[in-house]
Amino acid sequence: GRVAVVLGGDSAEREVSLKSGAGVLAALKSRGVDAHGIDGIPALLDALRAGHFARVFNILHGRGGEDGVLQGALDALGVPYTGSGVLGSALTMDKCRTKQIWQTLGLPTADYLILREHDVADVDHVLQKLSLPLIVKPSREGSTVGIQRAFTREELASAIAHARTHDREVLIERYIVGDEYTVSILAGQALPVIRIVPATGFYDYEAKYLRNDTQYICPGIEGDAAHDMQAEALLAFDAVGASGWGRVDVMRDRDGRNYLIEVNTTPGMTEKSLVPKAAAQAGIDYPELCWRILETSFK
Ligand code: DAL
Ligand code: MG
Repeated sequence: GRVAVVLGGDSAEREVSLKSGAGVLAALKSRGVDAHGIDGIPALLDALRAGHFARVFNILHGRGGEDGVLQGALDALGVPYTGSGVLGSALTMDKCRTKQIWQTLGLPTADYLILREHDVADVDHVLQKLSLPLIVKPSREGSTVGIQRAFTREELASAIAHARTHDREVLIERYIVGDEYTVSILAGQALPVIRIVPATGFYDYEAKYLRNDTQYICPGIEGDAAHDMQAEALLAFDAVGASGWGRVDVMRDRDGRNYLIEVNTTPGMTEKSLVPKAAAQAGIDYPELCWRILETSFK
């Protein structure tokens, strides 16, 4: 049947999703799939109710598409879709609750503190519990939107204020000084690990999508260390109910200790994105990758 590739939407990651979606659409068509792009959830639901599509390839990033809202609507309509279901999507979009689950299970994650909606942003209180440098994140965002690092007390205060403009809950985490890695997951298997080396030292929105000087090393780690990181990523992915495909971000400190950062259940599929690079290293080209992601909807 026909496949709807749902892209765009109205999250802060709209532009990224349009790029991811254009790539996926062209790839599926090249594989002979009768695929059509649909922008956003309301248009998708209209098209589904009109009987235009048999399944959905979800490439919406961020709130709405990646947080269980779309998944619940599709479950209610009985339409199969790629990637995680309601629970895995909702939990992983929430960085605070993801960390609470990992911590409870003894999975390694950086020390943190949560500022809830009505908590006063008391910098002294934060600095009694955690020491600088820190990284401050809106709980539910993607592509580093709203995230700032704090090396001083003043930067901490402004980073909290900034994060709060993006979400009512804010995660304050110890900033792990070391190397940044990501583990892509496809159908229960971890792909080769990528090490990300941003020219500025911070893998932010610019380094992700706008600059051309970010280095990607794949495999970025080998041998037992790679195997351990992949195994940890698979556990972390399962622990929060994620399934199908996704990406687990990891920091590794100077002593070789890994810290789980977050799970993305609808990772970027742009020209600069990470999952396609990891897949290529495993011998899976972009059209084949899109086909295998589509297969995660055959459940
Ligand atoms: N949130 C972006 C799209 C990613 O994880 O790749
Ligand atoms: Mg993310």
